[in-house]
Amino acid sequence: MKTVFSGIQPSGTLTLGNYLGAMKHFVEMQDDYHCYFCIVDQHAITVPQDRLKLRENIRSLAALYLAAGIDPDKSTLFIQSEVPAHAQLGWIMQCVSYIGELERMTQFKDKSAGKEAVSAALLTYPPLMAADILLYDTDIVPVGEDQKQHLELTRDLAERFNKKYNDIFTVPEVKIPKVGARIMSLTEPEKKMSKSSPNPKSFISMLDDEATITKKIKSAVTDTEGGIYVDKENKPAVTNLISIYSLCSGLTVEEIVERYRDKGYGDFKTDLTEVVVEALRPIQQRYYELIQSEELDTILDHGAEKANEKANRMIKKAEKAIGLGRKR
Ligand code: AQP
Repeated sequence: MKTVFSGIQPSGTLTLGNYLGAMKHFVEMQDDYHCYFCIVDQHAITVPQDRLKLRENIRSLAALYLAAGIDPDKSTLFIQSEVPAHAQLGWIMQCVSYIGELERMTQFKDKSAGKEAVSAALLTYPPLMAADILLYDTDIVPVGEDQKQHLELTRDLAERFNKKYNDIFTVPEVKIPKVGARIMSLTEPEKKMSKSSPNPKSFISMLDDEATITKKIKSAVTDTEGGIYVDKENKPAVTNLISIYSLCSGLTVEEIVERYRDKGYGDFKTDLTEVVVEALRPIQQRYYELIQSEELDTILDHGAEKANEKANRMIKKAEKAIGLGRKR
């Protein structure tokens, strides 16, 4: 059975973008792959975080993974900082990376643009991400489109290490969904929907209640032209809303376009609200059962144990290949 690894940062409450672009696919992959799903809290601290809020977000993300359908009997769910091999291999991967290639990463450019004090870790985030993946002999990494560049770098770093030291890493493939790989902001459809956006109207959080979702969809930008059809170039906002409708309802894009052929944005948005609320309802119900439960801690403890076992084997191989320490 092939191995899958993917991570999500606890940098805010997950958005519909994170769910439709990543988590929903994780759930679908569990039966066919050996899966590791990680709460990458060490990535979250590359930008400032409030200590108590971060703790809360870590727990919340764990509960959301489970509420969305991650089954701890099938998949390993764990927190990155509870598996020290991530930071250890992250350092080694930094030593294999070139500053030039890290500076070319779009996410680094976006997150550092216009800021005076940018952490060095924002630059060295991709080697840590490479370490996350390479520790588990990962064959496939399911992510949204925004992570494609980091994945390409992971492949380069793995190949560089294998060639220079010893052929120990599996070079992973990236898997990007055909629809939903890039859910866009509700207020600025040229930008992706992001959980750390300062404008809450730009995203739907997986825990937003019905009234909030209604308000956000009502105020989502469309255009003055009218007409509900797909045209990424000229109607990016409406195209994005159609993708969300399709992914939440299971209807195809063609079926949706046909259904709203003679209707206006008002009708479309009312129905879209219902479809989103219904898609999130069972997840939210399960989430609130789990969030305060001991079951959540037991699952995470067990996940950390399993992940440590696997990751420790790989870090030993990497240290040996590169010549760290005394023995072997
Ligand atoms: N808008 C999106 N559409 C589709 N997929 C998305 N992903 C993120 N945004 C969208 C996918 O979600 C997974 C987890 O992402 P992450 O938490 O590791 O960080 P990110 O990609 O930087 O996501 P955010 O929401 O934009 O977080 P912040 O605001 O903290 O930077 C990944 O698989 C990602 O592709």
